[in-house]
Amino acid sequence: MDFYVIFFAFLFALTVNVQSYIIPREALDSDGCARIHNEFITKEKTIFSYADVKDCYQHFPFDKDIASETIDTLIGLVNGFYIFLDKAKEPPEPGFDFRPTDVKHLFYDLKDPHTNFGSYCFTTFAFHTNMTFYSVVNNGEQKIKVFDDTIDQDNIDCEVTHIDGQQALEVITEFAKDSVYASRDLGVRFNIALDRAYKFPSFAVRVEIPEKPDITYTLKCDNKNPFDVKRNWNAFAQNITNLNKFKDSKSYFDNICNPSDGIKLSRPSTSFQETTIIPDSLNDILEQDPSITTIKIVDGFISFFKVQDFGIVKFYTENPVDRNGTTKMLPDVIQGFEELANTGVKKVVLDLSDNTGGYIFTTYFTSLLLFPDTFPSFDFDIRITKQMRLAITEQYKLLTSNNIYDIQGYVDAKTHANFTSAEDFIGNNVYERGGIKDNYSNKYVDEAGINSMRQIIQNNLTTPLPWKPEDFIILTNGLCGSSCSLITEHAAEFSNVSTVAIGGLARNKLLSYSSFTGGSVVNATQTFNSLGELGLLNNPLMPKPFPLTGLTASYAIKEVYSKINPDDILDFTFKPADFRLFYDEKNIRNFSILWSQAAALIGSKSKIN
Ligand SMILES: *[C@@H]1O[C@H](CO)[C@@H](O)[C@H](O)[C@H]1NC(C)=O
Ligand SMILES: *[C@@H]1O[C@H](CO)[C@@H](O)[C@H](O)[C@H]1NC(C)=O
Ligand SMILES: *[C@@H]1O[C@H](CO)[C@@H](O)[C@H](O)[C@H]1NC(C)=O
Ligand SMILES: *[C@@H]1O[C@H](CO)[C@@H](O)[C@H](O)[C@H]1NC(C)=O
Ligand SMILES: *[C@@H]1O[C@H](CO)[C@@H](O)[C@H](O)[C@H]1NC(C)=O
Ligand SMILES: *[C@@H]1O[C@H](CO)[C@@H](O)[C@H](O)[C@H]1NC(C)=O
Ligand SMILES: *[C@@H]1O[C@H](CO)[C@@H](O)[C@H](O)[C@H]1NC(C)=O
Ligand SMILES: *[C@@H]1O[C@H](CO)[C@@H](O)[C@H](O)[C@H]1NC(C)=O
Ligand SMILES: *[C@@H]1O[C@H](CO)[C@@H](O)[C@H](O)[C@H]1NC(C)=O
Repeated sequence: MDFYVIFFAFLFALTVNVQSYIIPREALDSDGCARIHNEFITKEKTIFSYADVKDCYQHFPFDKDIASETIDTLIGLVNGFYIFLDKAKEPPEPGFDFRPTDVKHLFYDLKDPHTNFGSYCFTTFAFHTNMTFYSVVNNGEQKIKVFDDTIDQDNIDCEVTHIDGQQALEVITEFAKDSVYASRDLGVRFNIALDRAYKFPSFAVRVEIPEKPDITYTLKCDNKNPFDVKRNWNAFAQNITNLNKFKDSKSYFDNICNPSDGIKLSRPSTSFQETTIIPDSLNDILEQDPSITTIKIVDGFISFFKVQDFGIVKFYTENPVDRNGTTKMLPDVIQGFEELANTGVKKVVLDLSDNTGGYIFTTYFTSLLLFPDTFPSFDFDIRITKQMRLAITEQYKLLTSNNIYDIQGYVDAKTHANFTSAEDFIGNNVYERGGIKDNYSNKYVDEAGINSMRQIIQNNLTTPLPWKPEDFIILTNGLCGSSCSLITEHAAEFSNVSTVAIGGLARNKLLSYSSFTGGSVVNATQTFNSLGELGLLNNPLMPKPFPLTGLTASYAIKEVYSKINPDDILDFTFKPADFRLFYDEKNIRNFSILWSQAAALIGSKSKIN
């Protein structure tokens, strides 16, 4: 079966500063890494000072040769395999807000230490000031407020008027513009900047080291006079395991920046649950609310609830693989839908907020289950460069396992016939994008993946689910990416399911309900492993691996076409929701209220879009 993880937590690492590093000989007492180790060992501390982390990171100065080899690898990867190399040069559609990019040039710019790339060197710590925020719109005026403050609870719900002396709303919007990268819609990036699900760094919880050690918030509480709160940025280990890996900057470099056995994913804890920021899981919070009835929880994946007379299906991820690597959760999900149907609810809110994706087969599964009369997949294709042509052709011959260049199981999107050869898949399609002509493969769908999901549903669903497309509404905060985005786009495009997006910037009437559809994301490790299996690692056409093992990159390798407008690529198409909600002082803390607002829109004719 063709399992593709199309999004993964490592994107966390992609906003850190770019530098490449060698170790100068420094005395221990001037080594921030050593001071961190000392505090960890002698005082069992896991929270560290900004100054120590900054000093630790600064022990790895710029190395020209490593930088230039790194850039060569990145350019090799994007030239050879990145699907949107040309498309990214086109100006954004109205509704989107991003700079058209010459991706290659962007990587040359990496010589500037303020541009981004992925290094484990700089993801060990995250920074926060013990405050989190939200945004409300009162009489058309958008404000930033304090969601939580673990140091002074009296500050909760106070308005933040200024941050370091500048208008708070502007500061957060600028942060969303420049430092949040997970959507082409600025409103969604604004939501991510304030998000407390911590799927990505936010304004309140950073991975990129803040510019200065402290930050001053001006607060206005009730009708009292505004006052300033000055806070230090504290650094905490994203994954405490990493604190055992070094005792000074030399061992930090050897074991984290450039580990001899390659990257063993001590992946950042994506939910920050090891810290005190999120005391309870969302499921725990929901189960404690008497206005919400829990129907079934499929752990870490999908939960089913009932509020008043409607149902809620909360999709946390598209990753239904348990610790044993099996997909036994899928029959459980079918059972959850059946139990929800048995409660007699006629309307269902599908909440896909804060969902960054998972396996693409989950999208086939969900679409086949909820919309059995539709074909569960969009059309995909691949940009055929010389490198891609060679890799696909070799894999077609050698049939190595788990290879990212494998096209077995794909069928022609139009005829559903098997491809009879690598050439038959590659085809002869030249499209012009961003002013560049390039070859693209024939459009395909993954029939093997679809059939295996169809089988699971056939064997486990006892009665068809009672709901029609008009009985659902999709609710998101726009942070619904990758496989999540494929589910929502499929429901909207194939079945006309209504969508409602919450939050964003009040000054923009429309807000996207999904982001970064991608097609399939792969990383440098997978790329080099796959090329290695095909004996292509030393082929002069192919990129060379990174000079440090602690460096990595990921990129989209496939693209997805809209069903309704077959020339549109979903990633670059502005798809605003039919309805819009804003956060307020109540629904920001009470899901029962938020979901009721969404459920009230099911069947409504007053679409804004
Ligand atoms: C501030 O946040 C850190 C990390 O989450 C936590 O360990 C610490 O207890 C907090 N400080 C206070 C005073 O609440
Ligand atoms: C921390 O990293 C270790 C591997 O070094 C991993 O086994 C563990 O799951 C990680 N913890 C979290 C919460 O991700
Ligand atoms: C959330 O709001 C609902 C409806 O107003 C109310 O019944 C419920 O008690 C609230 N939940 C909490 C935890 O306050
Ligand atoms: C994994 O497999 C073991 C042994 O078969 C079993 O005891 C355990 O419950 C399984 N865990 C999950 C999460 O399915
Ligand atoms: C297409 O290939 C699959 C194996 O990938 C095979 O099971 C199927 O029979 C083939 N279909 C046709 C029409 O040849
Ligand atoms: C497309 O592929 C053909 C080989 O099949 C090649 O001759 C041609 O130059 C390619 N076109 C572009 C624009 O790369
Ligand atoms: C659910 O489907 C799987 C895969 O087709 C099958 O192995 C399993 O027996 C089914 N479970 C039940 C309870 O029917
Ligand atoms: C969806 O709605 C549009 C217009 O509202 C209509 O033209 C189209 O036929 C509908 N499609 C489906 C699958 O119901
Ligand atoms: C690359 O992707 C594979 C497959 O999803 C994953 O197992 C691996 O941990 C990733 N490696 C890095 C360095 O991100």
